[in-house]
Amino acid sequence: KVFKIACIPGDGIGVDIAEAAVQVLRKLSERVGSFEFDFTTFDWSSRKYKELGYYIHPDGPETGMEELKKFDSIYFGAVGWPDVPDHISLWSLILPIRSSLSQYVNVRPTRILRGTSSPLSNCKPGDLDWIIVRENSEGEYAGHGGITHAHSSNTVATEVSVFTRVGIERIMRFAFKTAQSRPRKKLTMVTKSNAQRYGMVLWDKIYDEVKGDFADVETDKMLVDAMTVRMVLRPESLDTIVATNLHADILSDLAAALSGSIGIAPSSNLDPTRNNPSMFEPIHGSAPDIAGKGIANPVGAFWSAAEMVRWLGMENAADSLMTCLENVTDSGIKTKDLGGSSSTKEVTEALCTEIERM
Ligand code: NAI
Ligand code: MG
Repeated sequence: KVFKIACIPGDGIGVDIAEAAVQVLRKLSERVGSFEFDFTTFDWSSRKYKELGYYIHPDGPETGMEELKKFDSIYFGAVGWPDVPDHISLWSLILPIRSSLSQYVNVRPTRILRGTSSPLSNCKPGDLDWIIVRENSEGEYAGHGGITHAHSSNTVATEVSVFTRVGIERIMRFAFKTAQSRPRKKLTMVTKSNAQRYGMVLWDKIYDEVKGDFADVETDKMLVDAMTVRMVLRPESLDTIVATNLHADILSDLAAALSGSIGIAPSSNLDPTRNNPSMFEPIHGSAPDIAGKGIANPVGAFWSAAEMVRWLGMENAADSLMTCLENVTDSGIKTKDLGGSSSTKEVTEALCTEIERM
């Protein structure tokens, strides 16, 4: 079977790690033999925006979205560069893709890979093994709001969160099913419903309703501020976590850091109905501070690639890729952020060698 993959490297280290991921995916398909990838690269980047004034298409992003719908999956690097305001780059590229393709779930697994360690002294490898399920279509990133008196001392800006019953219920059910599929069957639901009285309270209410359909899942709920403390002090008490778009965005960066580095964390932007292609990307950004140096950690990109392979139905190949990846980290071939001294290229080549040997 041939899978058509749209590859959008984007900016900064996004370009390096997407190239590395394509190399690894090619190697994996060669080695396994039962599937192939047909990659098409889209140069939708901040560099192109500076040159031409648009990220996706001169007629508007819709034209690009029609193009993307023809693919089985999308592989994304990162977007953002210092010469374009970040709210423009994000809203011109990654957010339109997530929303136009109904990718309303963002799954962010975190665990401590073999040969790596947590900066927390109390945290042994098995203690931190989480899946954060992030609401990916509404909430704080709904894009509603405005600004008045922008150029006076009376400036007022609003940033309105939008929560819908449909939006909350579908993410809640997905999270319960995720928790149910894991050995511990445990879900923690995060809000800030003491201070925010409407949308967050609706989250609590729908969680209570949906809970009844998943009697075998152990549940608890946390306020997001207390949750940060629990993640640091009692990582072993958590398994699956569900939170809003903003809260889960923040918690997943923390989770990544607690598991070793932001450079290892993957994410899947899923349309669970499978009517549209899903998108896979590491959670980190374009890292302008290390871009062009050849030292970006490609592990999050490889893990994201494994999640793409899994979503496309090749469970065994995905598991094998993860085993090979952990053989590499375990052998000490790691980038600087994980305490090693290897380059992006060295890690990538070591992984390709592991795949050949598997
Ligand atoms: P960032 O994730 O790019 O970098 C944060 C820190 O982590 C930096 O010190 C960076 O060097 C380090 N880091 C990140 N990924 C790494 C890797 N693979 N290996 C080693 N070190 C790594 O976040 P930051 O600095 O807040 O944002 C930079 C740009 O990326 C901004 O324009 C931002 O808007 C954009 N961004 C884009 C995202 C996306 O495309 N989905 C997600 C997050 C940020
Ligand atoms: Mg983020």
